[in-house]
Amino acid sequence: MPYIRPAEDKDLKDIEYVCRMTAGPESRRNEEIGRKIALTYSTYYARAEQSTSFVLDDNGKAVGYILCAPDYSEYAKDYRRNEVKKLWKISKQQSITAYFLPFGYLPYKKQYSAHLHIDLLDEYQGKGYGTELMKALLEKLKSMGVPGVMLIVDKNNTGAQRFYTRAGFTRKASVFGGVVMVKTL
Ligand SMILES: CC(C)(COP(=O)(O)OP(=O)(O)OC[C@H]1O[C@@H](n2cnc3c(N)ncnc32)[C@H](O)[C@@H]1OP(=O)(O)O)[C@@H](O)C(=O)NCCC(=O)NCCS
Repeated sequence: MPYIRPAEDKDLKDIEYVCRMTAGPESRRNEEIGRKIALTYSTYYARAEQSTSFVLDDNGKAVGYILCAPDYSEYAKDYRRNEVKKLWKISKQQSITAYFLPFGYLPYKKQYSAHLHIDLLDEYQGKGYGTELMKALLEKLKSMGVPGVMLIVDKNNTGAQRFYTRAGFTRKASVFGGVVMVKTL
């Protein structure tokens, strides 16, 4: 029976795989593109934010996650020093994209200092696990005194937007083809 637990070092590869598999057809098909996407959107949290990241564990494998950076400034500094630098050696273009990524969160960092990413492999979607992962994270952030949490979702991903609305998030703004959604804790 799958269950939720905090992320650990051993989950890094699984988390990167889930990220790659849920990031669209190009990333699924092409390992190299998948690697760039995973480095851009998941590696930092799996490496540096384990105390605020949770996985859905099925038989020892992480098959889904909620990844969260509770503090914008720490995230932006560490992510740029590590993942953005690593990406530079693989793809200059992706490295530049990644460098600018934190700016999407910047205007909201005071009121919503935390931001998150959530993804589940196909066969684990629509079974309530996303709701459980969200609950685990929100409880943790509240216990830490974090004032609010935000995320950026693709403007065309209306399914996920519905999920976030059900979880109590509201639309705040539009950025780079995405929608900023926020929740006060
Ligand atoms: C989005 C995601 C994390 C939601 O997790 P989940 O376990 O599938 O969602 P749940 O089963 O907990 O559903 C909770 C509620 O959200 C709704 N919901 C979830 N996914 C939905 C979708 N794709 N379309 C419409 N509604 C959706 C459910 O209908 C449910 O509402 P209800 O309580 O009225 O029935 C998961 O489906 C996923 O990983 N999707 C693919 C990757 C993705 O889009 N990630 C988000 C990127 S920003």
